Amino acid sequence: MNDPIYQTDDLIAQDIDAYLDRHRHKTMLRFITCGSVDDGKSTLIGRLLYDSKLIFEDHLAALEADSKRVGTQGQEIDFALLVDGLAAEREQGITIDVAYRFFATEKRKFIVADTPGHEQYTRNMVTGASTADLAVILIDARKGVLTQTRRHSYLAHLVGIRHLVLAINKMDLVDYDQAVFERIVADYRHFADRIGIGPFTAIPLSGLRGDNITRRSDAMPWYAGPALLEHLETVNLDADRMQEHPFRLAVQWVNRPNLDFRGFSGQIASGWVRPGDAVRVLPGGQTSTVTRIVTFDGDLDEARAGQSVTLTLADEIDCSRGQVIARADQPPEVADQFETTLVWMAGEPMLPGRPYLLKLATNVVTATVTDLKYQINVNTLTHEAAKTLGLNGIGVCNLSLDRALPFEPYTDNPDLGGFVLIDRLTSATVGAGMIHFALRRSHNIHWQAIEVNRAAHAALKHQQPRLLWFTGLSGSGKSTIANLVEKKLHALGRHTFLLDGDNVRHGLNRDLGFTEADRVENIRRVGEVARLMTDAGLIVLTAFISPFRSERRMVRQLLPDGEFIEIFIDTPLEVAEARDPKGLYRKARAGMLKNFTGIDSPYEAPEEPEIRIDTTRLSAEEAAEIIVQAMTT
Ligand code: ADX
Repeated sequence: MNDPIYQTDDLIAQDIDAYLDRHRHKTMLRFITCGSVDDGKSTLIGRLLYDSKLIFEDHLAALEADSKRVGTQGQEIDFALLVDGLAAEREQGITIDVAYRFFATEKRKFIVADTPGHEQYTRNMVTGASTADLAVILIDARKGVLTQTRRHSYLAHLVGIRHLVLAINKMDLVDYDQAVFERIVADYRHFADRIGIGPFTAIPLSGLRGDNITRRSDAMPWYAGPALLEHLETVNLDADRMQEHPFRLAVQWVNRPNLDFRGFSGQIASGWVRPGDAVRVLPGGQTSTVTRIVTFDGDLDEARAGQSVTLTLADEIDCSRGQVIARADQPPEVADQFETTLVWMAGEPMLPGRPYLLKLATNVVTATVTDLKYQINVNTLTHEAAKTLGLNGIGVCNLSLDRALPFEPYTDNPDLGGFVLIDRLTSATVGAGMIHFALRRSHNIHWQAIEVNRAAHAALKHQQPRLLWFTGLSGSGKSTIANLVEKKLHALGRHTFLLDGDNVRHGLNRDLGFTEADRVENIRRVGEVARLMTDAGLIVLTAFISPFRSERRMVRQLLPDGEFIEIFIDTPLEVAEARDPKGLYRKARAGMLKNFTGIDSPYEAPEEPEIRIDTTRLSAEEAAEIIVQAMTT
């Protein structure tokens, strides 16, 4: 064996570096494999590694022992065990996470991300796919093109993978029948055409028998194309694509070891750079000149896409993490509203109007979906009206960010056009998306500087604007107490206004019901209106159930520090239900009213309200007095 193969099980950066170093002269292909649970994906990858005689001898010995224990229906070695590294996966019989494997042949080195086939693991699929050059889509010859096949192909295409291989597996189980192969290819072609997938390579094979894996099989003389490994070794890579694009580097950190040195570190997303180049720093737009390209191994005369470097600039300009250094005469756009495709990866639905954290390159900002235009049915490829996206849902939607970011359309530059959405409370990644373009309104709507401003309005009224946000179950006493508080403040000469759930729902929010999505939108609108009213100098009181922490927090952040006073009207469900002032609990219990808070729709109690009122101990009058006291002292 003149070219030993190193296969690693753990993704340890140093190992990878050392490994890649040994094969630095070879081109590298990153690919993913996707298929359903029983398509034989792990077996195929195991076979690929095994047939390339690339497995460490001791690993092999362990595997043989393992296979004997598990029992593999006459097979000497269960190739799936080679790949399904995690014990948990073996027990469940499904692959649950992205596992990266490294191997090399004489011609090329490879990184394969083995992505799971189980429907709920779209997240891992997208994660593994976003950096891949090629996707191997597995199909069981007996089953043909399935929902999973379409979903995976759609996602692979969506994340910009240019090369697709249709691996039609288990040909041995259909007697190596050419007609079966051709029918599946035709089916797939039909689907691929509809989503804009161009040419793909279809290979009939058997992972179990090793047909057409590393070399062409005698069992299918009718097939004239390459074996899988041959194809992987020779497929044309467009590794240079990002180098032809103008220079961009998203600053990851500012390197300032002492007062004499200030460098901007990050990975070059596209293009190349040399000392002396004129650059522009976005979103600010200041220009400067590159003075040095510093790396661990010394200064460079030139650096290209993919390299991690530290740049020093000739001028002392404002540049921090998240900013993008770009070619001065070809900078990326800067915008705060986009049309995007969003893939939802969480069990909790995506709710338009709810704030999420958005991570794009090295920036993290707050973003909301302002409009879900439609959801894409991956099976029929039709556009369907939708108000939310559920797990694995894919939709086209507009996003609004709380500040403008430098970006590029995903298809031009995945590093500056791909983003993830993160839940603000749990920090879990809940969605991944691709920017299509900036909305024109993003460029054309500016804040109008108003001369009679917030402070001027407040001064004339001799008061500090406030938002008294009452929250609690239906029937908890919010409206009653808020009413009393307003009367007292009014009597004290304060300028107030009370926004009440039942009233606002007759006008401004007449179009909204009580689904989670509608409640989020209800509170978003009320928050915006209340904010405008505080801008006008008013003390605003709101009485809405406002059941979700996320939206209460969003409204809090709309206001200057200290102006949002969260008042939790804390009435236990039993008590509110016993009062049942409008008879709604009775209806809800009888199943005549759906999504009723406390019954079949959640209420998330405030964790740290400014004021908490226990209505089982205080009368409404006493509660109002406490609140007014807190406001006026
Ligand atoms: S919120 O959840 O979106 O904040 P909001 O406070 O505006 O709700 O409206 C709540 C009022 O609507 C309740 O006091 C009740 O009178 C009425 N209502 C009608 N249907 C429901 C329901 N399914 N859940 C809660 N309240 C409802």
